[in-house]
Amino acid sequence: MRLKNKTALITGGSSGIGKAAALLFAKEGANVVVADINNNGDATVTEINSNGGNASFIKTDVSKSADCQNMVGFTESTYGKLDILFNNAGIMHSEDADAIETEENIWDLTMNINAKGVYLGCKFGIPALRRAGGGSIINTASFVALMGAATPQLAYTSSKGAVLALTRELAVIHAREGIRVNALCPGPLRTELLMKFLNTEEKKERRLVHIPMGRFGEAEEMAKAALFLASDDSSYMTGTEFLVDGGITAAYVTPLS
Ligand SMILES: NC(=O)c1ccc[n+]([C@@H]2O[C@H](COP(=O)([O-])OP(=O)(O)OC[C@H]3O[C@@H](n4cnc5c(N)ncnc54)[C@H](O)[C@@H]3O)[C@@H](O)[C@H]2O)c1
Repeated sequence: MRLKNKTALITGGSSGIGKAAALLFAKEGANVVVADINNNGDATVTEINSNGGNASFIKTDVSKSADCQNMVGFTESTYGKLDILFNNAGIMHSEDADAIETEENIWDLTMNINAKGVYLGCKFGIPALRRAGGGSIINTASFVALMGAATPQLAYTSSKGAVLALTRELAVIHAREGIRVNALCPGPLRTELLMKFLNTEEKKERRLVHIPMGRFGEAEEMAKAALFLASDDSSYMTGTEFLVDGGITAAYVTPLS
């Protein structure tokens, strides 16, 4: 029960990493608020509550200021405080490409959700963490913020670079208030976000060539890393780029299997 008496707010909790984290955090004793633009968050919450946990869903578009203010207010009014803020919602758009091909509306949409959404979560979340006497913020970035991508996705990569930069800055600003801010950098995962692009065996195999472990990561593996960052187990960590990537950023060449 590493999160006993804690309240966690998780964006993008309807699927993938966010859902896995909601289930795990609840199992570890936290009250969980799932915030998502997609109503499937209700299913996450039902699963938690029917297994003896405590969870609530709030429909939220993280790119909208009023929604982010509302999700934090809802968390405090429902559970009395906010201790853990997991800014995890994100998109990877099929029309995101290189600088020439990427249209401005795709750039804006991606930046608004992936980067501005994290800023807005922090804008309204940090005062709540202060009211709780401190806490932990985890922002989902990506390994692509640290290396060139195999396929062009300029808006996505740029948005994740912004997440790393704002994470570092906020970590420094709030370090002496007991508020830790870390980025989680997943490698390629077997979640909807990526698999809708890698929709043939050939495309999957092509991607796996670059991953030393030779497999995609699982949402549950990211949830465990997020739990570490959320809990006091990581009490001396702030401002980090926490890579959980099957070794992809370490590889120059991968071994032949
Ligand atoms: N899947 C990967 O390979 C991978 C790798 C690195 C980083 N990431 C990042 O991990 C995070 C979670 O991705 P995932 O793989 O679990 O994908 P996912 O598509 O399964 O989950 C993303 C969730 O975010 C929600 N969402 C999208 N736009 C939103 C908005 N405007 N407001 C609120 N919620 C919104 C979706 O409804 C969905 O529930 C994302 O930030 C993603 O960029 C994923």
